Amino acid sequence: MNDLERIRGEVLAEAAAAADLDALEQVRVAALGKKGRITALMKTLGGMGPDERREAGAALNLLKDAVAAALEARKADLDRAALNQRLERERIDVTLPARPEAEGRIHPISQTLDEIVAIFGAMGFAVAEGPDIEDDFHNFTALNFPPGHPARLMHDTFFFPEREGGDRYLLRTHTSPVQVRTMLGTKPPIRIIAPGRTYRCDSDMTHTPMFHQVEGLVIDEATHMGHLKGCLVEFVRTYFEIDDVPARFRPSFFPFTEPSAEMDIGCSRKGGELRIGAGSDWLEILGCGMVHPNVLKACGIDPDKYQGFAFGMGIERIAMLKYGIPDLRTFFDSDLRWLRHYGFSALDVPTLPGGLAR
Ligand code: PHE
Repeated sequence: MNDLERIRGEVLAEAAAAADLDALEQVRVAALGKKGRITALMKTLGGMGPDERREAGAALNLLKDAVAAALEARKADLDRAALNQRLERERIDVTLPARPEAEGRIHPISQTLDEIVAIFGAMGFAVAEGPDIEDDFHNFTALNFPPGHPARLMHDTFFFPEREGGDRYLLRTHTSPVQVRTMLGTKPPIRIIAPGRTYRCDSDMTHTPMFHQVEGLVIDEATHMGHLKGCLVEFVRTYFEIDDVPARFRPSFFPFTEPSAEMDIGCSRKGGELRIGAGSDWLEILGCGMVHPNVLKACGIDPDKYQGFAFGMGIERIAMLKYGIPDLRTFFDSDLRWLRHYGFSALDVPTLPGGLAR
């Protein structure tokens, strides 16, 4: 009997001392496994007389149950401890922001485009798009460039090889073909802007073969030059975030508008530094005019009933002016250091109430 008490004490002590589940399993095997010490004692029951066996059997069963229960309890403890350890190790602060700092930056072209869309969107303009690869009709003919007109040459067009029948596709030299596509596709009233890529065979400090423009087009029965001026003055003030930017309109020429004008905004170049706003100088920022009746006709719109204005401006140019970017070519260098410096946070979407650029 004393033996059993001793064994019980030893096994319970071993179980209590087992530091992990593996050690505890070894304790169990040594006591209750096939070759365990308690199992060995059970085997001796077979050689006993009936009275002796009943007594010893009852005692051994008590021992076995007590040991099994102690092992079970210790296992539960170790399981719990292992789980707690794991929870501690894999602890996550779920209150942290999902992306503490977005790695990518918004390119100044995209930023400027988003700002332009926000401003004209608030004035009720929809965004229209057209293909980069155009044909002669949409890029020139429908826009009142007669065949052989010198203005065609001024566009430094990239042409594709001639196709059968003599015509050839080209890379659009301006976003004005989207005017044509819009007028052919929808009935007035029309009020759209058309941002996108444009191409001219030209490359130096202030020209890249690919650049971006945004076109504007308003067609209805009553829109006149006063609306054109008001709309564009409102645009430059909101875009540059300067309430009193002076603006002036100079007569100009485009085949697709009559009259045509170029818009200048006030600036100062004192000390070699360009500042937008009141000053003694002027800076040209866009071309505009009243849509030429020939263009309306070419697009199936009755020029006796409908009229309106159009404008077009270079996106890189106004981005450079607003964000003080000195060299046009750097826009397309894909230099990450440049992008980190001039780029914008992906999470600050430009809106009029929220602010355009932060
Ligand atoms: N398409 C002209 C250009 O690229 C700009 C413009 C658009 C002028 C609309 C007047 C009206 O130079």
